[in-house]
Amino acid sequence: YTVDWDASAAEKGGWDSFMDKEIHEDPAAVQRTLLGRLDKHGDINLDEVRIEPHDFKAIDKIIVIACGTAAYAGMVAKYAIEHWVRIPVEVELAHEFRYRDPILTPRTLVVAISQSGETMDTLMALRHAREQGSKVLAICNTQGASIPRESDAVLYTHAGPEVAVASTKAFVAQITAAYVLGLYLAQVKGAMFRDEIQSTLDSLKAMPRKIQWILDTQAKAVQKAAEQMVNAKSFLFLGRHVGYPVAMEGALKLKEIAYTFTEGFAAGELKHGPIALVDEGEPIVFIVPPARGRNVLHAKVISGIEEVKARGAFIIAVAEEGDPDVERYADVVFWRPKAPTLMSPLVDVVPLQLFAMDMAKLKGYDVDKPRNLAKSVTVE
Ligand code: AGP
Repeated sequence: YTVDWDASAAEKGGWDSFMDKEIHEDPAAVQRTLLGRLDKHGDINLDEVRIEPHDFKAIDKIIVIACGTAAYAGMVAKYAIEHWVRIPVEVELAHEFRYRDPILTPRTLVVAISQSGETMDTLMALRHAREQGSKVLAICNTQGASIPRESDAVLYTHAGPEVAVASTKAFVAQITAAYVLGLYLAQVKGAMFRDEIQSTLDSLKAMPRKIQWILDTQAKAVQKAAEQMVNAKSFLFLGRHVGYPVAMEGALKLKEIAYTFTEGFAAGELKHGPIALVDEGEPIVFIVPPARGRNVLHAKVISGIEEVKARGAFIIAVAEEGDPDVERYADVVFWRPKAPTLMSPLVDVVPLQLFAMDMAKLKGYDVDKPRNLAKSVTVE
């Protein structure tokens, strides 16, 4: 009597790909990244990062350096940290950073975001920042990798090992870690009232449950949309505010594993050129901001949808439950639960991860190992 032992199936925990497994670990990745960062009074404790509170207090600018998905997480964090801490946050692709003579001072905090911790472009950029006298804090998912080793401080994302080349759970964990850092800075600098910090943390703590809701209720709609769109030649992904980096990330996922030509950009740019691309049947994915609180951006995104709809586009919307305007114009909707605007990327990206995976599977591609790509890019 023998038992067939398929080690790879066991590692995938019953899922048929690592990507599938890792998307389903999005809620846990957020939760584990938050764990242990709050003390018994509910204040944020970042003793582990080894930068003294008075050094944090002196920081007057942040520059995020990263590549790919990690850079999109940095773009999301910029919106939140500037809003909370009121200091400028620049986000720069690591490979562009050191070749343009960036302005770095001892009061600049450089935040290097990297899942693998081995991305050569990011490593070279952080070395440059340290040579110029800035402190570097790494947000990294891999214990002891080169990037955290060479940084002044590290905040680990506890997403667990990510095997699929397309980054998924690391993205939500990176946003979570960057938000914890932002709220910590707000705390030491006194930029927010204590109860504001607490209520923001409460919203963050509620996100794993909301992500789970999407996985439980929207997967079928996503699969159906992928079946409908599998032969589409190209896609546009549009969003505004924090929806903009989410659109970029959704577009990247589809490019890298479904090999579909995809452009992601800020929805406000539509009328500045890209609308010329819109033709009968062109699929356009919109990340729709919450309608609540008379959100002016909601109205603007809806009017963008109306414009492309009038030109025959096929609209796929990621929108908050019960949004009546979306219901009116979209051909397909992926619903997400209500969440404050700054928290919405953590839910909005999830159906886009599933969509890219379903598209790639329907086309018969290996979703874990797309052609031409490596999990970590260790050359410049
Ligand atoms: C994401 O799906 C990509 N495969 C890629 O863009 C990745 O995010 C980028 O290469 C950065 O990797 P890192 O986080 O390991 O530094």
